[in-house]
Amino acid sequence: MPVAKQNEIAPAEGRLGVLLVGLGAVSTTFIAGVEAIKKGFAQPIGSLTQMGTIRLGKRTDNRVPLIKDFVPLAQLKDLVFGAWDIFPDSAYDAALNAGVLEKELLGQLKEPLRKIKPMKAVFDQTYVKRLSGTNVKTGKNKFELAQQLIDEIAEWKRKNKCSRLVMIWAASTEIFLKPHGVHKTLDSFEQAMRDNHKAIAPSMIYAYAALKSGIPFANGAPNLTVDIPALRSLADKNKLAICGKDFKTGQTLMKTIIAPGLKARMLGLHGWYSTNILGNRDGEVLDDPDSFKTKEESKLSVLEYILQPEVYPSLYKDFSHVVRINYYPPRGDNKEGWDNIDIFGWLGYPMQIKIDFLCRDSILAAPIVLDLALFLDLAQRVGMKGVQEWLSFYFKSPQTAPGLYPEHDIFIQLMKLKNTLRHLRGEDLITHLGLEYYD
Ligand SMILES: NC(=O)c1ccc[n+]([C@@H]2O[C@H](COP(=O)([O-])OP(=O)(O)OC[C@H]3O[C@@H](n4cnc5c(N)ncnc54)[C@H](O)[C@@H]3O)[C@@H](O)[C@H]2O)c1
Repeated sequence: MPVAKQNEIAPAEGRLGVLLVGLGAVSTTFIAGVEAIKKGFAQPIGSLTQMGTIRLGKRTDNRVPLIKDFVPLAQLKDLVFGAWDIFPDSAYDAALNAGVLEKELLGQLKEPLRKIKPMKAVFDQTYVKRLSGTNVKTGKNKFELAQQLIDEIAEWKRKNKCSRLVMIWAASTEIFLKPHGVHKTLDSFEQAMRDNHKAIAPSMIYAYAALKSGIPFANGAPNLTVDIPALRSLADKNKLAICGKDFKTGQTLMKTIIAPGLKARMLGLHGWYSTNILGNRDGEVLDDPDSFKTKEESKLSVLEYILQPEVYPSLYKDFSHVVRINYYPPRGDNKEGWDNIDIFGWLGYPMQIKIDFLCRDSILAAPIVLDLALFLDLAQRVGMKGVQEWLSFYFKSPQTAPGLYPEHDIFIQLMKLKNTLRHLRGEDLITHLGLEYYD
């Protein structure tokens, strides 16, 4: 992840196009939110780029600027949104349908939201069994579909007068795919697209089109997508930033907040049972076992990495970890996540923690989309290429260099993110040693 010196950060001039794959609950809540904030109706709550600060130098220096004043990020007024979806509904209709935001608020944002009409999607029901739609591209093979996307992106950029673009996958979770031989090199990947090979999912076609078009790419779902050697090497070759996978919201966010605390206090864990009821389209897609498998893999790995049973066998060996998602339509986007955590303390005495999180998934995801769009664009202007591990903070299943285990502890992730920003601007990294205050 080589980085340039601070004076080499290109300014955020002109319009930044945010291309969203999928115009569902997350994307529309993000776009509507940005429009509401631009109009002064709301504050960007949950967004580190907009509300977060960063301490610089010693605690006694009193230098704590806002992150957005510290690094040159695109401004909200310069964001333009584009999207693809298998349904032709505008962002306004899709937002109404998603049912996350109140009708009254959406009514006030009707004008900008109505203008956003999704482009035809690259879609194949093999990969998302519970959906079918009409707003879908046709082509001879997957390679040709990728070329259609590449042409469309160039045209969209020109029409919307953007100086830069980023692409974020916020479409449905695809079925579980294992890395395949055809994912190994760019040549084999392109040949597989021409052969309509099953190992090439639609999300990979979008990622390929983005990377071919010089656009950084973030993956908000747990799909394999850009986490394959062929696309990683394409990102390196074209000097593009990539990151993923799966926005860290809801239950996993809570897990990565609480588990580091248990470990910090050397409290043991017998088991962690998590279940959710969820009634939105995402819940419906995840009701299909093949899509759920992709999600489950992403959700399950978190505790193993944080608790390190191999380092602390007497505390964490063989703990039981179960994750369930139940599709329950009446709930809509207002998920309820229950956690039962069986822990043990001094002399092995058992205790329990119960969490009932009445969570709003897309409300938690929208600011992540905003931050990723702005940070990916920053990474691009700095010249950071390949996997952006410093953005692990935003993901359930952070992408890392091959062979490197991911860091899931949210506090370490945040420190890494902020230290990366300090590094970019030539500031001292914060170690929290603090001996100098006692000299
Ligand atoms: N909401 C959260 O908190 C959260 C957290 C982590 C990950 N995610 C993931 O983000 C994604 C979006 O979540 P959501 O709640 O907005 O779901 P959603 O079902 O409301 O929206 C997804 C949209 O993607 C569209 N779509 C599916 N395949 C497509 C394709 N190939 N091309 C273009 N469009 C396509 C669907 O038609 C749908 O409108 C899901 O994969 C979800 O698992 C969401």
